[in-house]
Amino acid sequence: MDPIPITRLPVSRLSTVDFEDLPFGKVFADHMFVAEFEGGRWQNARIVPYGEIPTNPAISALHYGQSIFEGLKAYRNQKGEVQVFRPYDNMSRMIRSAGRLCMPAVTEDIFIGGLKALLELDQEWVPRQPGYSLYIRPFMYAIDEYVGIRPSDSYRFIIFNCPVGNYYTAPLHVKVSDRYVRAFPMGTGFAKVAGNYAAGMLPLKHAREAGYDQLVWLDGKEMKYIEESGTMNLFFQIGNTLVTPLADGTILEGITRDSILGLAVEAGLPVEVRKVSLDEVVAAYDRGDLKDAFGTGTAATVAPISSITVHDRRLVLPAMEDRTYSTLLGRMLDDIKTGKTQDTRGWIMKI
Ligand code: COI
Repeated sequence: MDPIPITRLPVSRLSTVDFEDLPFGKVFADHMFVAEFEGGRWQNARIVPYGEIPTNPAISALHYGQSIFEGLKAYRNQKGEVQVFRPYDNMSRMIRSAGRLCMPAVTEDIFIGGLKALLELDQEWVPRQPGYSLYIRPFMYAIDEYVGIRPSDSYRFIIFNCPVGNYYTAPLHVKVSDRYVRAFPMGTGFAKVAGNYAAGMLPLKHAREAGYDQLVWLDGKEMKYIEESGTMNLFFQIGNTLVTPLADGTILEGITRDSILGLAVEAGLPVEVRKVSLDEVVAAYDRGDLKDAFGTGTAATVAPISSITVHDRRLVLPAMEDRTYSTLLGRMLDDIKTGKTQDTRGWIMKI
């Protein structure tokens, strides 16, 4: 790819940011990468100061939701170098999401090339404090000016970055959703499409008003099997076995989920990836076998769950100090992301 033209922000905003106190998703790095898909190819790749972009009111992303996104993170390793966690897997997932919404595939030049160039320029925005990272948000949306319904011919792809702390700051109280579903067979549940999140806003608002942090979604057909929770995939330790729902079309194919599964197998834990019914989890709790429950996601990392409310019954999970699987797997993952453990899996891309 030709060198990407850069328009620099005249004065960096770095010195205005308190890196000791970073809320999630509210602080934005100096620059963003932008490209358009027009005439059947990606073009006009550029890096410009982070800021507003002109938006015609008729673009179909706004009306019909032809819009997809990704989330990944960059960390500092032990030498202070910047390393990105599994960017090629995010690119592959974005291509799958694009396919489902009839959008063009991103190319490696655009996704990885744009990301590298942006991080080279803004690498000082990658936090150095333990527990913090740079959240990277690539997204793509339809920009045809046309009010009829058909797939757009033109698209914009953008990457911007946010230095962040934890998405969840305490163990989570979750409630099983009995009024709404997130996804249904042959729909868009597996893809990272904006509309999946829009449909969850009202249920989440109700859950928050009732004192819960997140909802646990059940399958859309029978409302019997556990799928995922809010921004996370779910894991349960039942007895000695680590169990996670099978991602067979209605569940987001989480990259953190996949990493945790790989690490669990490597650590010699018994692992099962299969349909997990709500009844089974409640029965395990009643037997005293539900030892751990946690969510995984790029933003959430490994987020322990402290209670699960099923209808009016609250299942209270063991105290954090008695959890072994989430603690072990969370630490293994962190050590790879921050270079304490050598990456032997090709998960790390250095900048
Ligand atoms: C992520 O974990 O990257 C997500 O997409 C969650 C996000 C909605 C904050």
